[in-house]
Amino acid sequence: MPHQFKDRIADYQRRVDERLDEVLPPASLAPERLHDAIRYAVFNGGKRVRPLLVYAAGECLGVAPDLLDAPAVAIELIHAFSLVHDDLPAMDDDDLRRGKPTVHIRYDEATAILAADALQPLAFSVLARVQRTSPAARNSLVRLVADACGSVGMTGGQSIDLAAEGRTLTVAELEHMYALKTGALIHAAIVCACLLREDLDTASASALDAFGRNIGIAFQIKDDILDIEGETHIIGKPSGSDAKLGKATYPALFGIDASRARCDALLHSAMANLEPFGDASAPLEWLARYIVERGE
Ligand code: IPE
Ligand code: IPE
Ligand code: MG
Ligand code: MG
Ligand code: MG
Repeated sequence: MPHQFKDRIADYQRRVDERLDEVLPPASLAPERLHDAIRYAVFNGGKRVRPLLVYAAGECLGVAPDLLDAPAVAIELIHAFSLVHDDLPAMDDDDLRRGKPTVHIRYDEATAILAADALQPLAFSVLARVQRTSPAARNSLVRLVADACGSVGMTGGQSIDLAAEGRTLTVAELEHMYALKTGALIHAAIVCACLLREDLDTASASALDAFGRNIGIAFQIKDDILDIEGETHIIGKPSGSDAKLGKATYPALFGIDASRARCDALLHSAMANLEPFGDASAPLEWLARYIVERGE
């Protein structure tokens, strides 16, 4: 096994792509157009950051990758569904995602809605199939991912995001929205490894819980900075989309410098959360740095 986590990334990305391919119905299965759109939504590129976080948290805690495949796949399926809906005309109305036409542009709006509708329950079907895990851990995983996806997690955050267009929010309100719309799934990616280490001590569990919260918010601030500073052909989505919609974002409300400073502070806190784990947390450290420094 390569020593450095960054040299294992391509293997983990391949691994999760193979598992995704196994669980997604073939495009030849009726209704073909729907299955084709579902596969397009998942295999149109994507950094697979959330699955990488699942495997990296697993490395930190000594959880075997084959136990982590199901949560890694489930969280990526929910992420893919969230992007399809996020791009719809009723939401961010974007026509480019991962450098390709968004699902509603490539297919049509109804197919995009249905493709996302189908991706979400598939995630829970995958979690329900987890083998070699106690029924208690399996239930906790389902509950974790369901809450991270629902109205107290990503979906709730998306609702706040839409209601906040054109409005001014306080830092606390804005970070609450980020913690939900983006942080919840990223946090769940970290916590699922904790749930699979059933003998984990409380201090380690709280340290990783805090790490997940810190990098979740940092991820969205960085995404907002890239929406302003990134080039469309590099970020793979239309640059300037947030300003066009009057989105309440960290850089729009508090400026680029404050956004960068907040990202750095969150990274610093995240690194401090990992201190008790010593060398075992090197993969998570690498990913935390990547989240804040990507695109630079
Ligand atoms: C984009 O997430 C949506 C946000 C939550 C900000 P990613 O930047 O992880 O998107 P992909 O999966 O790599 O395309
Ligand atoms: C999306 O935030 C968060 C989701 C839950 C999908 P954005 O709307 O900023 O994500 P992008 O920039 O379109 O990827
Ligand atoms: Mg959005
Ligand atoms: Mg968007
Ligand atoms: Mg964005």
